[in-house]
Amino acid sequence: MPPVNVRLPVLTATEVIANLEALRARQPVKYAAFYSSQLGGIVTDPALMVIPFDDHMVHRGHGIFDTAGIVQGRIYDLEAHLDRFMGSAERSKLTLAGSRDAMRNIIVSTVATSGLRDGAIRYWLSSGPGNLDLSPAASAQPGFFVIVFGGLSYPDRWYTEGLRVMTTTYPIKPPLYAITKATNYLPNVLMQMEAKEAGLDNGVFIDEAGYVGESSNMNVAFVTSDGVFRHPRFERVLPGCTSLRLLELAQSLVGRLFTGVDVCNIPVADARAAREMFLIGSSVKVAPVVEWDGQPIGDGRPGPAARALLALLDEDMRTGNRLIDVPY
Ligand SMILES: Cc1ncc(COP(=O)(O)O)c(C=O)c1O
Repeated sequence: MPPVNVRLPVLTATEVIANLEALRARQPVKYAAFYSSQLGGIVTDPALMVIPFDDHMVHRGHGIFDTAGIVQGRIYDLEAHLDRFMGSAERSKLTLAGSRDAMRNIIVSTVATSGLRDGAIRYWLSSGPGNLDLSPAASAQPGFFVIVFGGLSYPDRWYTEGLRVMTTTYPIKPPLYAITKATNYLPNVLMQMEAKEAGLDNGVFIDEAGYVGESSNMNVAFVTSDGVFRHPRFERVLPGCTSLRLLELAQSLVGRLFTGVDVCNIPVADARAAREMFLIGSSVKVAPVVEWDGQPIGDGRPGPAARALLALLDEDMRTGNRLIDVPY
């Protein structure tokens, strides 16, 4: 911030670009490529990865997003992520910026330009710029944005020792907002910050009826004391693409590690008595939770189901039938 009483400069376009570059020099980021329908193409300089301030995604949160992974030069399960993206757009009354085929093509091209062979793709649909009102401006054109980056990473300790979580004090989202991946993540942000401030790894939402919800950007699932792989219904939680896939893949473990696979409301008391508990998502994959609100889950150590589910997912991400080749 400039000192008080100093006349503020009115900047030229050249100065703006220089200042954006200086900002990124002070705070380097590793975003490999960015597509913007507003810019009309792809940029690789993070200083140019910008969006107009009056886009309603910025000042009203009227936008949606999704994230898919890049594994060994291929995109994993993009169709499932696009299905969810289309559903989020419809529920948010957002006009698509192009057809599904056009969006897929832009995503694949942006990954190819990035050169990244392992990482993540996050893409957004925005309501568009044009005014500072609530409803989109009459002339608003929806924006489509894609960023390719290294992906979120978590400590090795999460997988070797397991995570410690707490029940958040923040209220869970109502169903419409829980199943729509909109750019309104305030409850999720506050929940994660609250857990970190308490020296823990993450939080868990519980709904008003006392059923388990989800974590900040991950689903939660359990192995019950009688061996059922149990997941909350996808009503108060985001339908996680990773969870939905694992619920299919886990069938191969029934009769060995699991006595069944089940999606239902899970009362907190049942959940606390689980043999194992996991966080599941595209970025975390499958990570064991060993402590919840100061009480151990099972024997307080990562269990065999967490390892088996992670192995199943890893195999699917590398050699399964849900991979798209990238024309680098
Ligand atoms: C709130 C929330 N729940 C669950 C998930 C897990 O979803 P996915 O497996 O598609 O990454 C995410 C991540 O996108 C999320 O943001």
